Amino acid sequence: MSEPTSEQLHIFLDIATEAALAAGAILQSYWGHLEAVEEKGRPGDLVTVADKEAEAAILKVLKRHFPEHSILAEESGQQGDKESDYLWAIDPLDGTTNYAHQYPIAATSIGLLISGKPQVGAIYNPFRDELFRAAKGLGATRNRRPIQVSQTPELSKSLLVSGFAYDRRETSDNNYAEFCHLTHLTQGVRRSGSASLDLSDVACGRLDGYWERGLSPWDVVAGIILVEEAGGKVTAYDGSPLLIDSGRILATNGQIHDQLSTELLQVPPLSSWQ
Ligand code: IPD
Ligand code: CA
Ligand code: CA
Repeated sequence: MSEPTSEQLHIFLDIATEAALAAGAILQSYWGHLEAVEEKGRPGDLVTVADKEAEAAILKVLKRHFPEHSILAEESGQQGDKESDYLWAIDPLDGTTNYAHQYPIAATSIGLLISGKPQVGAIYNPFRDELFRAAKGLGATRNRRPIQVSQTPELSKSLLVSGFAYDRRETSDNNYAEFCHLTHLTQGVRRSGSASLDLSDVACGRLDGYWERGLSPWDVVAGIILVEEAGGKVTAYDGSPLLIDSGRILATNGQIHDQLSTELLQVPPLSSWQ
């Protein structure tokens, strides 16, 4: 398949934006008015009517414009032509736990993989009215203004972010040891509860690096292209090319990448949590 033209990428980005803004309006409409919060299976893995309705709104927009594309959406799964070179990865509400507690850090994340590579992303946090957008070769923006990763040169001066997957009680590979280790070595490690906003914050230079395990494609596809287009670096923990389905990601401003990778590969065990 030939590479998409920049005109095509602009169209994909604009439609992703239309869908993200429509979802954002739904998230706002249910804010503080949720009648029920369900658990999806694992303790703490929540879903609400806002997740479901926001996803339906996104699917409606994408299917209208791109009926031949494939879709992977958190609440309704894979649909469309599995052979398509185009796969939309959709998280209608990234930060559901925050949202259910009325902690206003949450976003809609819509990414497009073309031939398996993240090429378009739109992430919208309606509670700060922040819209992050990027497409391959077209740069990254926050509210339509160009953004860049930070210039923090070394790990000891960095502010990082990470998170913990819903299986954290079931596995010793739960990121607790990594979180403590990096807290000792840096100016701090934050935990926002929204992977797409963590990647957005790396892209716009508020944070210097992000790592996490146990993620799904809908958590990260949009954020990956955002960080890359903002001048950052995204890989596996060991610095090798990222495999999105591995669920592990390391995203930084580039300058601290090797140091953070090295530390993630030599984390001392945290026996009291295991
Ligand atoms: C979660 C958030 C969180 C991350 C979890 C994700 P959800 O997504 O991105 O920051 O730590 O691993 O599952 O469930 O709020 O869409
Ligand atoms: Ca998510
Ligand atoms: Ca979600």
